[in-house]
Amino acid sequence: MSLKKITVRASGVYDVLIGSGLLENCGEYVKNVTKAQKLAVITDDNVDRLYGDKAVRSLENAGYETCRFVFPHGEASKNSSTLIKIWDFLCENHFTRTDCLVALGGGVTGDMTGFAAASYLRGIDFVQIPTSLLAQVDSSVGGKTGIDIPGGKNLVGAFKQPILVLADTDALDTLTDEFFTDGMGEVVKYGMIKSAPLFEKLEKYTAEELRDNKEVLTDIIAECVSIKRDVVEADEHDKGERMLLNFGHTLGHSIEQYYNYTGISHGMAVAKGMEMITALAEKQGMCSAGLSEKLAACLEKYHLKIDVRPMPNELGKACLNDKKRSGGNINVVICSDAGTSSTVKMTVEKFMDFLNSKGT
Ligand code: GLY
Repeated sequence: MSLKKITVRASGVYDVLIGSGLLENCGEYVKNVTKAQKLAVITDDNVDRLYGDKAVRSLENAGYETCRFVFPHGEASKNSSTLIKIWDFLCENHFTRTDCLVALGGGVTGDMTGFAAASYLRGIDFVQIPTSLLAQVDSSVGGKTGIDIPGGKNLVGAFKQPILVLADTDALDTLTDEFFTDGMGEVVKYGMIKSAPLFEKLEKYTAEELRDNKEVLTDIIAECVSIKRDVVEADEHDKGERMLLNFGHTLGHSIEQYYNYTGISHGMAVAKGMEMITALAEKQGMCSAGLSEKLAACLEKYHLKIDVRPMPNELGKACLNDKKRSGGNINVVICSDAGTSSTVKMTVEKFMDFLNSKGT
């Protein structure tokens, strides 16, 4: 199976390579994009156990001096205290501005390593090697980096594009079903906001069938990345078009917060957010008849149809902290059909009325 290459032209220009065998040959690919002498591989304990040695071996064979920073896996590590440890680690290892970081792992690793790269010495290069489906289709591409603070997820960060993204589809083999499902939430989102053909393709498979069909899965990842590339090129700094990627996320983030980030993954919360907003939109005649049912059926195939019913008022309160809010308004992403989306600016009061209009 051949590699897929998608070039992103944002404030930095870089390739996203998607396919098999990228991790074990990462040194050769990295060699093409940086003259760094030293590379710091930043990873969590789970990913390090699975892929740390393989990545470091390849980077060292390509002639790099490497060091490794390993932190405990999970969202709880994506904070200022781990970030300070990474800065200290880079300083102790005498990293200079011409050296480079390598984010090996999922979204937590990529976001935090990217922010370390954006801030250490006011900015050094970094490479993304995403190992989760969610990171491959979304967070490793487009340059959003950051950490969580007690006030909310991703509230502190920077836009910093990587110099290369290596999405090795072999790494998906070790994902648990739960993590695969988590990533599929974002995949369905891409179909809904921008691509009717992608949505139709997703309707034809189930989670189990996709996991067993690497060729189709690789195509789907490439389709998602190419949608993301187009959106990021049009609006790198999230002032307009990029907000479409937020479909389901305003409610999704609130659902995650409402459930205290336990027992419900990001992808599941986003799926519920997409489902709720589409049901509400359909009730108000803002989308084609039957769209919410179609979306719900697709989500079901990927085990993303979950039975949570948070109270509109609780959700509304949590939405007030949404970082996509501008002034007293919330930008709500609505899909009028599968593949067609737009943002609708609503006052917080109107949004609360909308939530209370009982669509689900
Ligand atoms: N994950 C949403 C974005 O990159 O804008």
